[in-house]
Amino acid sequence: MIISTEQPTITNTQFLTETLEGLSTEPKRMYSKYFYDEAGDLIFQQIMDMDEYYLTNAEMEIMKRQSAEIVNTIAADGSGFDLIELGAGDATKSIHLLKTLIDKNMDFKYFPIDISAHVISELEDKLPAIFPTLNLQGLNGDYFEMLQKATEISTRKKVVLFMGANIGNMSVDEAREFCINLKALLSLNDILIIGFDLKKNPKKILAAYNDKGGITRAFNLNLLSRINRELGGDFNIDGFEHYASYNPETGECKSYLISLEKQTVKIGNSTFNLEKDEYILMEISQKYAQQEIEELAGLSGFKVAAYFSDEQGYFVDAIWEVA
Ligand code: AVJ
Repeated sequence: MIISTEQPTITNTQFLTETLEGLSTEPKRMYSKYFYDEAGDLIFQQIMDMDEYYLTNAEMEIMKRQSAEIVNTIAADGSGFDLIELGAGDATKSIHLLKTLIDKNMDFKYFPIDISAHVISELEDKLPAIFPTLNLQGLNGDYFEMLQKATEISTRKKVVLFMGANIGNMSVDEAREFCINLKALLSLNDILIIGFDLKKNPKKILAAYNDKGGITRAFNLNLLSRINRELGGDFNIDGFEHYASYNPETGECKSYLISLEKQTVKIGNSTFNLEKDEYILMEISQKYAQQEIEELAGLSGFKVAAYFSDEQGYFVDAIWEVA
């Protein structure tokens, strides 16, 4: 059974409101959570398969090779817990952790949370076929609403999984607020496993968001197409160029769409002017240094229990405990 909020969390009303709001600010911006419609999900799969996009392989390596150590860290005393995954997606990475937990006969229940109903129902078909003994409850909706729901259902120790560098889609300030709010829903000794993409050679980072094949470009443009389709917009998709930038000082990797021409865009009853060369900020993918991760943990009331990194040192899954 899928638990859902009565009203789908992301209604077109919210999509419309946030889109109009983002286009009314200076500079214009979009919200990257709206990238993931059906077409966007497919393009994101292609991004994860790209040679340049090192993040997925790096975190996959951590999960494949170090699941046993991760399990030892999160469930040292062997007592039962609930494993709540934010943004579970297709769970290809967490599957390794699930397998290790099951092989070790751990007493746990898995609550995958995802904004996409489609993703949750696929998991509810796929996972029991792979792991017949897995205790599973899918939650479809917004992270925090569903996390709240999960914490109401759950009476045991909680282990929250937030992988894939999804925290990178928040600015450093937003990430701090997110971690503080997350901590407020947890109790002493609960655990957060959180994935960060690390600062590294700027060229390596930039290439991951500026691929030669134009997949990331298509990923960004797809959001304009989605607005045209779902919100009655009339963006001229061909009138935009994708521009990715990485600032090694701040760790901010940002994607922009630049208007190649002066254009007027209608969305429903609203109109927006874009100057030639005006940009829309599409997404931030924040990169962290280990010390910044430690600061974030401390500021939000966690203590760092362990770090798990890939061999190349590109990515880290940090294990934080509520202090
Ligand atoms: C899913 C947020 C981790 O920022 O690296 C990939 C999304 N955007 N390429 C990221 C993304 C462009 C991705 N996250």
